[in-house]
Amino acid sequence: MNHPLEPHAAEMRRLVDEAMRRIVAHIESLPSQPVFKTEDAAEFARTLIEPMPEQGTSYEALLDHLFDECVPRSFNTASPGYLAYIPGGGIFHAAVADLIADSVNRYVGVNAAAPALVQLETNVIRWLCQIVGYRAGSGGLLTTGGSLANFIAIVTARKELLPEQFFAGTLYCSDQVHHSFQKAANLAGFPYANIREIPSDGQFRMKVDALEDAIRRDREKGMTPFLVVGSAGTTNTGAVDDLDAIATIARAYSMWFHVDGAYGAFFMMTARGRAAMRGIERADSIILDPHKTLFLPYGTGGLLVRDASALRRAHSLHAEYLPPMQNEDELVDFCEISPELSRGFRGLRVWLPLKLVGAAEFRSQLEEKLDLARWATEELRKIEGIEIVAEPQLSLVAFRLRGSDELNRELLREINAPKRVMLTPTVVSGRFLIRICVVSFRTHRDRMEMCLEDVRSAVERVERGRPRPR
Ligand SMILES: Cc1ncc(COP(=O)(O)O)c(C=O)c1O
Repeated sequence: MNHPLEPHAAEMRRLVDEAMRRIVAHIESLPSQPVFKTEDAAEFARTLIEPMPEQGTSYEALLDHLFDECVPRSFNTASPGYLAYIPGGGIFHAAVADLIADSVNRYVGVNAAAPALVQLETNVIRWLCQIVGYRAGSGGLLTTGGSLANFIAIVTARKELLPEQFFAGTLYCSDQVHHSFQKAANLAGFPYANIREIPSDGQFRMKVDALEDAIRRDREKGMTPFLVVGSAGTTNTGAVDDLDAIATIARAYSMWFHVDGAYGAFFMMTARGRAAMRGIERADSIILDPHKTLFLPYGTGGLLVRDASALRRAHSLHAEYLPPMQNEDELVDFCEISPELSRGFRGLRVWLPLKLVGAAEFRSQLEEKLDLARWATEELRKIEGIEIVAEPQLSLVAFRLRGSDELNRELLREINAPKRVMLTPTVVSGRFLIRICVVSFRTHRDRMEMCLEDVRSAVERVERGRPRPR
């Protein structure tokens, strides 16, 4: 008999085949889909509110509803034209890995429950450590994203360097840092008043002299400066701080040096990335997001720690009902080094694509993104009236049209209007900037040419409608 919660073989195949038919059609049509479709999305969402269903519904009807009505009404984050925020992409191999991981549903929170699978995820961590230049003794874990990785890093640093009463502890970041850092620091127990935002220079990199001054001033006041974060690719403009110089200051003041490489750190797979992020390997901890620059679907971040035993000291806690934990350094119990106990087998969605395709392809994709951002910058420079505000330090360029913020808002609306690309803005030093962030594995030269065509014609339209100076 076919039990509703335990479909037989033919039914399992039907479930997957029906979904696959729609997934393939969806992915194959991505290049011609609009890059966002949000006009009526909020009103439509409200129509979906309903009580919990007591009885089931037809599978086909549910899939049609999802694929035809719900999925399209959104930012098309999987589109090659999605150059907004920090794009993701979502390689399909990772989706297959999720299907396998969820179907076998093994328990990877403790090593004893699935040593081989835990080892595969540990291998992934080892590979990530090698990418950033960490040596033996380093380690880490995969999280659900960069924000959680920031949080775990700050808690670990706090426990390593501060007493249980830690309110004298102060943290330092640039005024360009991603807000998940301040949020994580606050959730880790620090009042926002303990976080110092250090000004950045003309290239949006933290002013290292100002950092040292701030540390000294706090020490004189009796505070305990204990953590500084350097950005390896800011969200605003893609700026990479002088990580080597920050590492030197952190060491001089016995502070924890954390790096936010959520967007940038995977560019360490390329020579240009390694040159831009010199000194990253001196960090005590680094976050990096496979769901950004390793092109994975959303839901996978990572935290690496130079001395992995710090993670264990911060998180280890004994419970009688658990199996025995590992004592050897190479063998990891994820529950001993993170806040989580039960967790998904998220290692497989990184392991499978890397094993199947090989790291070389990921490296060449990243090289291509670096090239595309530089190409776009040169093309933007040729457009009369465009000012490049932030040259790409990695794969992000920020620009504006000479004129008011209002004019630039209108320009952005015009660029996005054909829906072939989606760009998003930011505000830096009170100025409205338009960003192009090239990260998706689906973005190639053809789409970047469309992007530049749309920028050029938007500039023309906006300039035509611009009131002439009196
Ligand atoms: C530089 C940077 N750090 C941290 C984060 C937070 O990561 P997540 O969104 O995975 O929580 C982001 C997100 O875009 C980011 O761009």
